[in-house]
Amino acid sequence: METKPPPEGNDSSRPHIGPSVARQSLERTVALLRLLDEGQPLRLEADEAAPTRNVVLEICRRRNQLEWYLGQLADKGVKPRLRRHLCWALAEILWLDGLSPEVAVNLCVEAVKQQFSPREAGFVNALLRRTTGPGARERFAESLEKAPPHVRLGLPESLWRRWRKQFSARQLDELAALLLQPSVLHVRQRQAAGDCPFLGPVFTVPWGNGAEFRLCHDPAALFASAAWQAGAFYVQDPATLLACSLVAARPGETVADLCAAPGGKALALAEAVGPAGRLVALDRSFRRLRPLVRNLAGQGNCLLAAGDAARPPFRPGSFAAVLLDVPCSNTGVIRKNPDVRWRFSETDLAALAALQGRILAGAAPLVRPGGRLVYSTCSIEPEENGDNVAAFLAGHPEFSLAEQRQLLPTAEHDGAFAALLVRQG
Ligand SMILES: C[S@@+](CC[C@H](N)C(=O)[O-])C[C@H]1O[C@@H](n2cnc3c(N)ncnc32)[C@H](O)[C@@H]1O
Repeated sequence: METKPPPEGNDSSRPHIGPSVARQSLERTVALLRLLDEGQPLRLEADEAAPTRNVVLEICRRRNQLEWYLGQLADKGVKPRLRRHLCWALAEILWLDGLSPEVAVNLCVEAVKQQFSPREAGFVNALLRRTTGPGARERFAESLEKAPPHVRLGLPESLWRRWRKQFSARQLDELAALLLQPSVLHVRQRQAAGDCPFLGPVFTVPWGNGAEFRLCHDPAALFASAAWQAGAFYVQDPATLLACSLVAARPGETVADLCAAPGGKALALAEAVGPAGRLVALDRSFRRLRPLVRNLAGQGNCLLAAGDAARPPFRPGSFAAVLLDVPCSNTGVIRKNPDVRWRFSETDLAALAALQGRILAGAAPLVRPGGRLVYSTCSIEPEENGDNVAAFLAGHPEFSLAEQRQLLPTAEHDGAFAALLVRQG
């Protein structure tokens, strides 16, 4: 089975970067930041060069801190068209260690001179020179002490305001600090893999039904390994198995996963129902169906379809269990997708909660009497989780809540929510 390497996560090795690689990193970073500024999600290529990957992810984690610092350094402000270049140089100077600060400044100044003007290059040079030299990181930290609380925590104000009500001050500080850390790559081990020195020891999680996870500290070695090519591993965070554990699919069952792409949970469910069972995987997005097809390719018990889970193209009562891993704000997976925080909005959250409610109501009739409906998100917002489940139950007395669980992000796993609703027999 071929499974695509993940689009996110840092390469843990940060070798010294040569000037031409650094120049490419600057150009590519500026292009990616432009797309982010246009409101698009971060889409790193699977084979994105490590220097670009590392600096872009660092900027995504700390974008408002960088903007704050720029504001402190330039009393009269910084032209918007210079900000992306400056963010690249500042991130290299303050947090990454593959490039000397002098080289980062020179490359940035040169690029601005070529793309814009010598005058702007002079401005960039003068500004960046103030951020290098002994005590550079301490000066940044001192400046940050004067920043508003949400900037100090690296959160947008909207999310900070919301989480301030949801969590204690200490919980919020700890959560924000965690979300500023580079993510770690987890793999689920699917079969014996022999000696894999690039992986940590096997561990399990209480909700994982014995599934074996390992931390990977050298993704390049993993993806080049024979064990990876043989399908021995699937890149998957332990939190994603919370929903699968509530589905508790049994050999021989017919189960539906109606928001299935790219297929991490679908693969686990297909394995659980086994050759005598059937997994029906549906997703509305044609683009995301492609990785789903790839990820389920080795399974002979799957049926894939494109369609809307709110109006699913299947007969009522067709399934022993239905999983709804609905689209959400993704606030539980910000550590792996650090750009997500900047796109968060209360308006989008309300629209998502309404869509999730429509999917729940539309898909519920597919569950046969006595069957299970599992609703899950990778959000930590009550409106997308417990509130939605409560609203559904109020309008569907034929279902009862058997169990629900919220995982908050920790150093070991992402955040996730899942609820098991059982249809009366
Ligand atoms: C959280 S992701 C699912 C992740 C997937 N379960 C996994 O484990 O890899 C949500 C998915 O829902 C799909 N989606 C969004 N709206 C949908 C709808 N109305 N019907 C079906 N799928 C939908 C998105 O395309 C996306 O692939």
